[in-house]
This record gives sequence, structure tokens and C-alpha cells, in this order.
Amino acid sequence: MRFDLTDTRREAARKLAGACFVCKVCDGVACRGLIPGFGGVGAGSGFTNNVEALARRKLNLRVLHEEREPDTRIRLFGIDLSMPILGAAVAGVGVNKISDMTEQELADAMVLGPAAAGTLGMGGDGGDPEVFRAGLAAAEHAGGEAIVVIKPRLQPELLTRIEAAKRARVAAIAVDVDAAGLVNMAILKQKVEPKSPTQIRELVNAAGSTPLILKGIMTPDDALLAAEAGVAGIVVSNHGGRALDSTPGTADVLPAVAAAVAGRLTILADGGIRSGVDVVKMLALGADAVLVGRPLAIAAVGGGAEAVTAQLADYAAQLRVAMTLTGCSSIAQIVQHVLWDGGDA
Ligand SMILES: Cc1cc2nc3c(=O)[nH]c(=O)nc-3n(C[C@H](O)[C@H](O)[C@H](O)COP(=O)(O)O)c2cc1C
Repeated sequence: MRFDLTDTRREAARKLAGACFVCKVCDGVACRGLIPGFGGVGAGSGFTNNVEALARRKLNLRVLHEEREPDTRIRLFGIDLSMPILGAAVAGVGVNKISDMTEQELADAMVLGPAAAGTLGMGGDGGDPEVFRAGLAAAEHAGGEAIVVIKPRLQPELLTRIEAAKRARVAAIAVDVDAAGLVNMAILKQKVEPKSPTQIRELVNAAGSTPLILKGIMTPDDALLAAEAGVAGIVVSNHGGRALDSTPGTADVLPAVAAAVAGRLTILADGGIRSGVDVVKMLALGADAVLVGRPLAIAAVGGGAEAVTAQLADYAAQLRVAMTLTGCSSIAQIVQHVLWDGGDA
């Protein structure tokens, strides 16, 4: 591996001073309320709840078996991926004081880094038009092997951005519906709104053959409405605790959401995933694949796309070890029974 992740983090800590403290464990404690910045909104409990909900789950160690070569590959939205771990959208260098890198440099690292690791990254959207433009350009640089996430803007503007994403031949288009009251959009006077099922159906139709994903689904009811509107996938997410304070950890709501819609659409999940062990937990709780946000952004700031690739390779290596020690040779085998049921989770 060319990149030493410790050096990458040291470099990121130097550049991120103030916006993120590059803590040993990225758990949302030091950055509570720092939005704009890297933190969770308000008391920051949505972010810390994500990390705590995962920590509460325990795994069954199972070593008397014949599985030798765990296979981490999956197929998602018709694309073969090397691992069930995607890069989440982390964007807005200016408003979030991410570093002195340009929006394009960050977007390229967050999209080309995952592409080089054989998976997908995401471009974001923000109050500054440059954020969406850079994410889309990064997706084009990756030959369309990326997902772009559009804010729940007023319908005409959202439809225009969907058309631009289709022209870039992206793998999928997401709308982060949980950003309907996002502080960062309000600061830059950008209009966003909650979306009705009728409006979602209009977005699905506009996306056509490009899969449409809703990011920010936290209840079985919203998941069912999403499925009925015909979306291809959802991301169980509380926006890393940045949208609404006092939301539960995503690992806590995922089982009920998965029970409501599994088999009808693809279920992604994010929030506080910090290791291959966390990936196993989220998959066992019902996710088809997961997204990682802040740790990849820290890698991007510290060492660009190559550091993002290295961080993902590290998670994949951890995932293989965790699969071996829980007796899983394929991603499909990571189901409920890998979780210890003697706990309080
Ligand atoms: C600084 C920052 C910027 C973000 N920008 C976006 C964005 O543009 N679009 C989006 O859907 N989510 C955005 N997110 C949320 C992430 O995609 C992700 O949902 C969240 O960070 C949870 O994962 P984590 O705990 O691994 O960071 C952002 C998060 C951070 C910290």
C-alpha cells in the first residue's frame, strides 16, 4: 500500500484545524454543533447516536468452518463492485471550512478514490453552485462510475439537475431528502423542501433508466412511500446527524426499515461506520451496502484520491478478516445470525 494512513491523518489534522479535529475515533463528540464544519447539528446527538448504536452490537465469533477466501464483491444497480462500501458525499469546502483545497480537488478525491478501489463515490450539492458542478465534473472524470446527490431543491431546479446528471451518464442519482431544512442551505439562502410522494414519482420518471435513490430515510413508513413511488434504492441515513438533532442511530432503525421494504428496493445505510466490523454489523442488520463519509473526507484532505483508495482498501481488508471470523464466505451470507443476541441492542 503506497499510502501510510497515519501520515495522511496527520496532514489532514494540520489542514482541517477548526472544522474537524481528526480524532482517533470519529465519533461526533469533539465537533458537536459544528455545522457548518464536520459536526452534527445542535447537541450533535444524531452523530453520536450513530456511533453508539453500532458499538452496542456485538458479533458471534465463529471459527469452526471451512470458509477460507471471503469474497467481498457485490452487484449494485447493475454494476459489479469490489466491496459493499461506497464513499458518501462530503462537499462544500468553503462553507464547511474543509481545507484550502478547491471544490474540484475534493470532489475528484471523493469520486476517483472509490472508483480506483473498484467501488462508487458520490458528488454532493450545496448552497454554492460550484459544489454540484464539481461533483458532476468528478463523475464525468470517473466515466460515470459515480453517484451524484442532489439537494431537495424546488422541483424545476431539481429536474434540471437530474437532466444534467443523466447527460453525465452517472451510475445513479440520489436526492438527500433529509436536507429539507439543512442549516448550510439556509445560510446561503437556497430553497429546499420536503418532497411529496407525487413529486418523488415525478423525479423517478425524469430519471428514466438511471436508478433514483432517496438518501435520508429513517422510518418504515417513509421507506414504504419510497418503494411505492418506484425508487430504486434508499439510504438509511440521518445525514451524519447534520439534518435534525436527536435522531436515533441508523443501526437502530435499519432492521425495521429493512423488514418493511427488503426485496423491493436496494437498501444502503450510513452513519458512524468506521471499520470492517461496522460494515458486517450494518449488513447483518439489513443493508445491501454501506457508505462512509467523514473518514474518507479526512483521507481526501490528507492525501487526495490515493489516500481515499487506501482507506477503502483498509476497510475491505478488515471486512475480509471479520467475514472469516464470523464464518461468512460471501456478502450474501452476512445475515442476522452473525450478531450476538445476548446484548441489549
Ligand atoms: C462536511 C460534510 C459535508 C457533507 N455534504 C453532503 C452533501 O453534499 N450531500 C449529502 O447527501 N450528504 C452530505 N454529507 C453527509 C454524508 O454524505 C453522510 O451521510 C454522513 O457524513 C454520514 O456518514 P459518516 O458518519 O460516515 O460521516 C456531508 C457530511 C459532511 C460531514
